[in-house]
Amino acid sequence: MKFFVDTADTAEIKSLSSSGLLDGVTTNPSLIAKSGRKFVEVIDEICDIVPGPVSAEVAATDYDGMMREAHVLRAIAKNVAIKVPLTPDGLRACRTLRATGTMVNVTLCFSASQALLAAKAGASFISPFVGRLDDIGESGIGLIADICQIYKAYGFATEVLVASIRNLGHVEESAKLGAHVATLPPAVLRSMFNHPLTDKGLAAFLADWAATGQTIA
Ligand code: E4P
Repeated sequence: MKFFVDTADTAEIKSLSSSGLLDGVTTNPSLIAKSGRKFVEVIDEICDIVPGPVSAEVAATDYDGMMREAHVLRAIAKNVAIKVPLTPDGLRACRTLRATGTMVNVTLCFSASQALLAAKAGASFISPFVGRLDDIGESGIGLIADICQIYKAYGFATEVLVASIRNLGHVEESAKLGAHVATLPPAVLRSMFNHPLTDKGLAAFLADWAATGQTIA
């Protein structure tokens, strides 16, 4: 499973990428607004930090506008993935961009039917939002299971990028289902390292080691 981080905070991205475990980054207009920085400038900086796919979302809602914006965004760096909404115009833009070899992440997916359309439009990534489905009493992970089953049945190359992740349960259940990518808020990514028994075990080992009075190097 690939791990992307879902943020436009470049200090966080730098810090997390030093682990060598970061495969890409996703942003959205809300995250760019939160950064308080210029969109193109921040995407450029992120693309320098992480060599994997960096999603940059169009703000236009019509095909021509999306294509104009995509042209600007894909010129920033080779690893930019254009993020388009799951609408008829978004999927039309997806098909055109994929024909020219541009990576496309289709976002705001909330049903298996929508995911099927995105795969047929040749999307590089489909982003189903698990947390937002859970929020309205539906099963986000259930949707991941449905999409994985459908994509496998037809051999679609579109990667399932689990988005709107809120907790480790979302990550682990998505991994069990074989989803290709999880995009994680920084706090969730950091929490993947933690277990109380790891801390307790390390403390005990260190105490016993100190009692030996030895050093290794
Ligand atoms: C994914 O690409 C989206 O930016 C993100 O995961 C949305 O998450 P949220 O529902 O927590 O805003």
